[in-house]
Amino acid sequence: MAIKNLWSVLAGVGLVFTSLAVVGEDDRRRGLDVAPASLPLYQQECGSCHFAYQPGLLPATSWKKIMAGLDDHFGDNAALAATDRDAIENYLLYNAADHAREYRAVKIARSLYPEETPMRITEVPYIVHKHREIPSSVIKGNTQIGSLSNCNACHTRAETGSYSEREINVPGHGRWDD
Ligand code: HEC
Ligand code: HEC
Repeated sequence: MAIKNLWSVLAGVGLVFTSLAVVGEDDRRRGLDVAPASLPLYQQECGSCHFAYQPGLLPATSWKKIMAGLDDHFGDNAALAATDRDAIENYLLYNAADHAREYRAVKIARSLYPEETPMRITEVPYIVHKHREIPSSVIKGNTQIGSLSNCNACHTRAETGSYSEREINVPGHGRWDD
C-alpha cells in the first residue's frame, strides 16, 4: 500500500473514532428524555400518591404555582412542613423544563408561551400532541391506567426519565405501533 493511501486510511479511522465519541455523548443526552428525579425527599413526598414526575416535565412557573397551593392540590391536601416545601420547591425550580438540557424537557419548554403556566403535565401542548392518537376508550375504564397522569402505567421506564416509544406498553393494548 502506498504511504499516501495508508495515511488516508488512518485519517479515516481517526475520523470514525472521533465521530463515534461525539455520537456517544449526543446519544447519552438524547437517551435521557428528562433527568430522573434525584432528590430523595421529593420522591418520598411527591411520589406517595402518584408517580414522582420529573422536574423537567414542567416549567419553573408551573412548579412555583403548584408548590404555592399544596393545601388544595387537585382536591387533595398535600401540604408539607415549610422546610421540606422550600427544599422541594428549590429542587423543582432549579431542574425545571426551561432550565434543563434533556431532549423532552427542551421540547416541553419550547411548546409553551412564556406566560403559560399549566398546572398539569398532561396539559402541556407537547405532551397533549404526543398522546393525541390514543383513543380515550383505551384509558377510560382501564383500571390499570386510570388517567393519562399515570405516566408509568404505560411508559415502562418512566422512572428512569425515559419515555421512548420503544418502551411503551399500554396495559390491555400491548406494545404501541404507530
Ligand atoms: C395526598 C396525595 C398527593 C400528594 C402527596 C401529592 N399529590 Fe400531586 N396529585 C394528586 C392528585 C389526586 C392529582 C390529580 C391526579 C389526576 O388527575 O389523575 C395530582 C396531580 C399532580 C400533578 C399533575 C399531573 C398531571 O395530570 O399532569 C402534578 C404536577 C403534581 N401532582 C405534583 C405534585 C408535587 C410536586 C407533589 C409534592 C409536593 C405532589 N404532587 C404530591 C395527589 C397528590
Ligand atoms: C395510556 C398510556 C400512556 C400514559 C398514561 C402516558 N403515555 Fe406518554 N405515550 C403513550 C404512547 C402510546 C405514546 C406514543 C404515541 C404515538 O407515537 O402515537 C406516548 C408518547 C409519549 C412521549 C413522546 C415519546 C416519543 O418517542 O416521541 C412522551 C415524552 C410521553 N409520552 C410522556 C408522558 C408523560 C410525561 C406521561 C404522564 C404525564 C405520559 N406520557 C403518560 C402512552 C402513554
